[in-house]
Amino acid sequence: MTQQAGATAVAHTNIALIKYWGKADPVLNLPTTSSLSLTLKEYYTKTQVEEADVDSLLINELPQDAKRVHEFLNILREEVQDFPPLRVISTNKVPISAGLASSASSFAALTAAVAKFNNWQLSLEDLSRLARRGSGSATRSFFPDFAIWEKGHDDTSSYATHFDTPDMPIALVVCKISGLVKKVSSTEGMRRAQTSPNYAAWVEESARQLVDMEDALKKADIKRVGDIAEANSLGMHNLNLTAKDQRFTYFNAQTMQILDEVKALRQAGYTAYATMDAGPNVKIITTLNEANAIKESLAKRFLKIQFDIATPGPGISYE
Ligand code: DP6
Repeated sequence: MTQQAGATAVAHTNIALIKYWGKADPVLNLPTTSSLSLTLKEYYTKTQVEEADVDSLLINELPQDAKRVHEFLNILREEVQDFPPLRVISTNKVPISAGLASSASSFAALTAAVAKFNNWQLSLEDLSRLARRGSGSATRSFFPDFAIWEKGHDDTSSYATHFDTPDMPIALVVCKISGLVKKVSSTEGMRRAQTSPNYAAWVEESARQLVDMEDALKKADIKRVGDIAEANSLGMHNLNLTAKDQRFTYFNAQTMQILDEVKALRQAGYTAYATMDAGPNVKIITTLNEANAIKESLAKRFLKIQFDIATPGPGISYE
């Protein structure tokens, strides 16, 4: 197959409403649970690949350690077809401080750009399956709005698909708390969480929550979506606190203050539910109508925290 001189793809990041937090197979990146996410319009990665002498990586014009990218490209060379070394040039519109996984959009964009470069004719599901080897959450960044990553049981059966829902005015208020906490990577956080005595119960609960979440989404019931997502996220963070090997937390004092505020907003009648990932930041699930009022009310109380509004986003695209 002939290669293109260069190829560019754009992938948006996603926020998990039912989390991926543990690996059944760390080499193949098979998860212990299925997960469900919302793709976000405001945050994305644009990646261009072009032929070079060695695999290299540039993010926002700065040279980076290319080890993880090089290992991932080698997996693609082995799994799909050999191709020459690549210069990977990425522009990341995922603010690091927002605590949104930039690995999701990065590995999705890279997989799609490499496929385009090589003229591989692959379905979105095939791309999702390949991207999984780079980073689990990347499986879900090929689809607009909602996606489900079915955990599967082997390399061929573990990938994401689009989850169709009625239109709904869902939005997120993203609280950008500055990350003073020393970061435990997602991969390491999961490894520790899986040593929690509560882990097996969380896996079972997560399967029930996924069924509930699908039903709530089909009914466009944003309050129920938020309530299930909040419970799932708190369950995930409980695993970190109760890990037998190096228990830890991603929360800091401001995380707790915002969680109190989310509860107060709810008591005042707002749609407001919290979800947190591998960092101290809180993402508040709400409606488009209420997002601005929630943002303004929090901005008055937390002068040092920045607040963004994020909305449902598109699937993968090419330039
Ligand atoms: C908390 O996809 O970053 O955001 O597969 O090890 O690269 P690796 O992990 P990653 O984990 C994301 C974890 C999460 C929850 C989620 O996105 O489902």
